[in-house]
Amino acid sequence: MSYLIKQMGHVIISSPDPEGAAQDLADVVGLRITGRDGDTVYLSSNDRHHEVSYVKGDGEAVAMGLEAVSAEAVDEVYNRAKSEGLEIVTDKPLGKFYDRAVTIVAPGGAVIEVHTPIKRDQTRRYLGSGPRPRRIEHFNSNAPDTAAYGEFCEDILGMKLSDKTSDDGLRWYRAQDGFHHTIAMGTGPTSLHHYAFDLHCFEDLARIADNLSVKDRAMIWGPGRHGAGDNIFTYYADPHGCLVENSIEMAHIANDAVYEPRTWDISEGLAGRWLNMWGTPPTPDFLVPGVNFAKTK
Ligand SMILES: [Fe+2]
Repeated sequence: MSYLIKQMGHVIISSPDPEGAAQDLADVVGLRITGRDGDTVYLSSNDRHHEVSYVKGDGEAVAMGLEAVSAEAVDEVYNRAKSEGLEIVTDKPLGKFYDRAVTIVAPGGAVIEVHTPIKRDQTRRYLGSGPRPRRIEHFNSNAPDTAAYGEFCEDILGMKLSDKTSDDGLRWYRAQDGFHHTIAMGTGPTSLHHYAFDLHCFEDLARIADNLSVKDRAMIWGPGRHGAGDNIFTYYADPHGCLVENSIEMAHIANDAVYEPRTWDISEGLAGRWLNMWGTPPTPDFLVPGVNFAKTK
């Protein structure tokens, strides 16, 4: 099967205070605000018009955007979703600055928008106090049945399984760009657990921790190195209680033809090295569901 999804696109999060949430992301991680439209505030870390939109609302996930390989791929996703009887929220873009989109409720409740590329109309570099990520990297959402959610990623979105856990509960799926995962999932009530940015170096993660300390806040977990994806991570909580992962060194799968998905033995539980190769188990604050999807809570 050929890929329909090229890479991570964008995230839309609702907030009682979109301006405050946007400024917080700019302060801590170093994206910059690229525009405003009514109550909506857009941010980007590169030449895309936006990678994050904060819209007015209750502090929930509105949709996770995936950039399609083509307009025809958006149509193909629509057709597949329709023939499978999935709920199609809309076949119009949820936001501006991209032409075509379809928004689908995945099995288990994640709301996913597959869209043509967001306009590249920003400078690649910009002034600002934060470390400035390369890009938005992936999202991680929970579903009661990750087998069904995973089948959706493969059969409707044309993504490929990179790794899974031995109980089949956690799964990681990649898109055409070859990075180990664009969608990660765990078993649980429907929620968005985290959204993640790709940073440049370990010092960036230290700077994010310093930025949090200036705001009298703390990281939730990390630094550590995940088994699946091999990326070094830290996590903190955004103003709505959704975790934000800052990541470096995610594995890149250059050749699908020779890659074999790995199954991680989780018999040691959450303290096992499969979750953090460096050995520090997740904190209680990491083991939270995250935030609801506004449409499917
Ligand atoms: Fe992650």
